[in-house]
Amino acid sequence: MLEPLRWWDIPALVQLEARLFPEDSPWTPAMFWSELAAGHHYLIHRGAHGQVDGYAGLARQFDEAEVQTIGVDPAAQGTGLGRALLHDLLGAAVAGGAARVFLDVRTDNVPARTLYETEGFTVMGVRRRYYEPSGADAYGMVLELADWTPQVHRQQGHRQQGHRQQEDRRPEQAR
Ligand SMILES: CC(C)(COP(=O)(O)OP(=O)(O)OC[C@H]1O[C@@H](n2cnc3c(N)ncnc32)[C@H](O)[C@@H]1OP(=O)(O)O)[C@@H](O)C(=O)NCCC(=O)NCCS
Repeated sequence: MLEPLRWWDIPALVQLEARLFPEDSPWTPAMFWSELAAGHHYLIHRGAHGQVDGYAGLARQFDEAEVQTIGVDPAAQGTGLGRALLHDLLGAAVAGGAARVFLDVRTDNVPARTLYETEGFTVMGVRRRYYEPSGADAYGMVLELADWTPQVHRQQGHRQQGHRQQEDRRPEQAR
């Protein structure tokens, strides 16, 4: 079930962050509080037992929007949740009057890049040494919402499993 992020779920997101980005600088409670205070669009997904197993956020300004974050508990990955979260963000961008959506993704984050590319995001360029502390590069990507056609999740098993890669990034930056 998708629902808006509320403050009492921030500790669960912080725990997920630590699991999804163990070698990097996971977002802190203060950073999620700041996102809520800024009025950014954040949502979570609850699993069968009520646990938070996915989250995503979008910042909107004028006719542009930016994906701030998206993450799915490893136990729930590959089931279509990441795409559902992204669809919610893009729908919110459309509803808010945005014409395009930007994001940054580590160049070696194959699952995330594939997700974005299949929704129609294209690479604008490379930001060298964008992420810290790794110094990894990022692709800056953009989606023109007029061109967006939501894609349907395919059945699990058509791609190699157990091969997920993670992204690191500066904690003060969108990812
Ligand atoms: C990226 C992430 C959110 C995707 O979530 P997910 O729930 O596993 O994704 P879905 O099951 O909805 O799959 C969506 C699409 O992503 C792509 N994808 C997902 N896992 C993949 C993998 N291991 N290899 C290649 N492509 C993959 C596919 O295009 C897939 O669509 P399909 O199954 O219809 O072919 C998840 O891997 C994650 O949380 N990663 C760690 C955090 C992270 O890197 N966040 C992104 C920061 S930019």
